[in-house]
Amino acid sequence: MAWHWTAAGGRQRKKGGGPPSPVGPPGPPAAEAEVPELWGAAAGPGGRGRGAGFSPPKLLLAALASVTVLTLCVRGGWAGGRLLQRKSGGDRVLVTGGAGYIGSHAVKRLLEDGKRVTIVDNLSRGNLGAVDVLQGLAANGQLSFERVDLGDKAEVCRVFREQPDIDLVMHFAAVAYVGESVADPTRYYHNITSNTLGLVECMLEHGVKRLIYSSTCATYGNPEKLPITEATPTVPINPYGQAKLMSENIIRDVAKSNPELQVGILRYFNVYGSDEAGVLGEFPRPELRAMGRITGACFDAALGAVPELKILGTNHPTADGTCVRDFIHVVDLIDAHVLLQDHLGNPPPLYNVGTGKGVSVREIVEACKKVTGQPIKVVEQAQARPGDYAAVFADNTKIRTELGWTPKYTDVEQGLAHAWAWRSKNPNGYGAPRFTGP
Ligand SMILES: NC(=O)c1ccc[n+]([C@@H]2O[C@H](COP(=O)([O-])OP(=O)(O)OC[C@H]3O[C@@H](n4cnc5c(N)ncnc54)[C@H](O)[C@@H]3O)[C@@H](O)[C@H]2O)c1
Repeated sequence: MAWHWTAAGGRQRKKGGGPPSPVGPPGPPAAEAEVPELWGAAAGPGGRGRGAGFSPPKLLLAALASVTVLTLCVRGGWAGGRLLQRKSGGDRVLVTGGAGYIGSHAVKRLLEDGKRVTIVDNLSRGNLGAVDVLQGLAANGQLSFERVDLGDKAEVCRVFREQPDIDLVMHFAAVAYVGESVADPTRYYHNITSNTLGLVECMLEHGVKRLIYSSTCATYGNPEKLPITEATPTVPINPYGQAKLMSENIIRDVAKSNPELQVGILRYFNVYGSDEAGVLGEFPRPELRAMGRITGACFDAALGAVPELKILGTNHPTADGTCVRDFIHVVDLIDAHVLLQDHLGNPPPLYNVGTGKGVSVREIVEACKKVTGQPIKVVEQAQARPGDYAAVFADNTKIRTELGWTPKYTDVEQGLAHAWAWRSKNPNGYGAPRFTGP
């Protein structure tokens, strides 16, 4: 299930059982230069057995064993959990989830910064329309797209093999709805934890050393003390937060045993807003809206796509009874990624990305009414959603002092105005999804 195109003409190459697509020229050959290294590393020091006095049958057996090892490695099956060396470096960034809301904003910024980018996304929740927009912004050959499911490790490893200039991975791809994670936890552990493990293994197998991981404030759960610092205990109260924390821990353990890895972990608070140019936006699929985020729900109500806006949970122990969240503008969030590129480390540095200010859902709804100018009908449900925590907001001192990061947009009306500028121009988002996925 994979096909890809590059910004050079946008032609597609279909692999396996992927969706119908115009057939383009064959893709670049696999990076064969890596094969001897893989072989050598898997066999261990001196593992090629030269001068060991092999008889012909022994030689045949050794050859067969080598072919097996080679096949396992090339198919992405085995690296022994160790970082393999690669010959060629590069400046390409592999962005998982680049067809999604935050990932597409990251890709836009990377393209503007002159990076070459490969998006890996299965389009289960992202929008091909966003990829089209990005393709329009990219120079010839600057952007390529791989429709690959991260659960298909052989395919993920293939992307690394075919693109030996990948230098950094920004791992955004994930299912990311708290309520859904409570209803369907195994999906979350597969999609978040297991897929992160597979991705990291492919990185090791192909000698890619740099990783930025998208984590979440859901790892903290319902903290006893606010604001949340990076030292706040992590006690996730839903499978989403748990799966993310497990992924972080996998990454930390792998980094410990591979000192050459350079990693950074960002725990995002509630992301909202759109790029200031108004070319990208947040547009979850209709079937996900009910689980979705308050800003999207508010715009849907303002556009008349839904009859009313539901506030889910008014009996929280907060000032107005609704949840309090730290709304971080997507442009500021991407700035944090850009700065972090030069501050990766091992052990991986960890940063909260939030404004430091708590805003209640009721306050967001009022701001949304003001920005859209629409008389939105609001319906309140007292009972909180399962898995929802009452109040979270960040202490962002660490990222401010260590990375020199400062959020530009701390007034939610301003961020909502950016998001509304895109959504009101694109009431149907990127149009109907052209692919359905798992
Ligand atoms: N939006 C927020 O407020 C928020 C807050 C904290 C953390 N995060 C994290 O940020 C990241 C991006 O979130 P988003 O809001 O952009 O979500 P999104 O749903 O808009 O984007 C996620 C993208 O990942 C892709 N994807 C999902 N599973 C995949 C798989 N198995 N293989 C390949 N691609 C897959 C989807 O198709 C989609 O394009 C996630 O890791 C999420 O947990 C988001």
